[in-house]
Amino acid sequence: MKRGKFISVEGIEGVGKSTNIEVLVQRIEAAGHKVLTTREPGGTPIAEDIRDILTHRGEEPVPEIAEVLLMFAARSFNVNNVIIPALEAGTWVVCDRFTDSSRAYQGGGRGIPMETIDRLADWVHGDTWPDLTLLLDAPVEIGLERAGKRGAPDRFEQERHDFFQRVRECYLQIAAREPTRFVVIDTTRDIDEVKADVAALTDQLLSE
Ligand code: TMP
Repeated sequence: MKRGKFISVEGIEGVGKSTNIEVLVQRIEAAGHKVLTTREPGGTPIAEDIRDILTHRGEEPVPEIAEVLLMFAARSFNVNNVIIPALEAGTWVVCDRFTDSSRAYQGGGRGIPMETIDRLADWVHGDTWPDLTLLLDAPVEIGLERAGKRGAPDRFEQERHDFFQRVRECYLQIAAREPTRFVVIDTTRDIDEVKADVAALTDQLLSE
């Protein structure tokens, strides 16, 4: 059985992850592959419970160390119980966020050293990295304005502009360091142009 391919979709809030994930899925299915979509934090029942803890705006402060450990705890469930079994069964996996979110939000945003995050990544998922990562990019003002129209902000969405600025810059740095895995897509353009780019990238991966 040929292993499925693993694609992750990244970016700050409001950059259009859901719309572009739909494009990816349709394209992969049209080529005759099975495809599974999942998200992080989340993707399994326990990991979704951890997501609720992480996104909830409660009274008790969430220490940064607890935040990064919970992200990786949730990821461990998703990788072991969902992602690896699917890939091994030949199913393609499209994941809404993966470890690059921890690098950008907990590393860039909160200031946790990148080596700490990369050590956790190595421990939790070893060589399981996406074959392709789409970084949907837009200036923070545009993303936050779009995200703001979606209702009450969660614990992350209530962060300030400069937090998301650091997250965006960190994403762009990671993408520049790993140009073979990452593709940066400018989502300030017309939506049809963005979708066409995503479709073309999917086709390229399908032909490999
Ligand atoms: P979502 O709303 O885009 O699904 O993601 C939930 C929030 O979790 C989002 O604000 C980004 C954040 N997040 C991290 O801070 N670190 C991570 O590792 C992941 C996966 C998400």
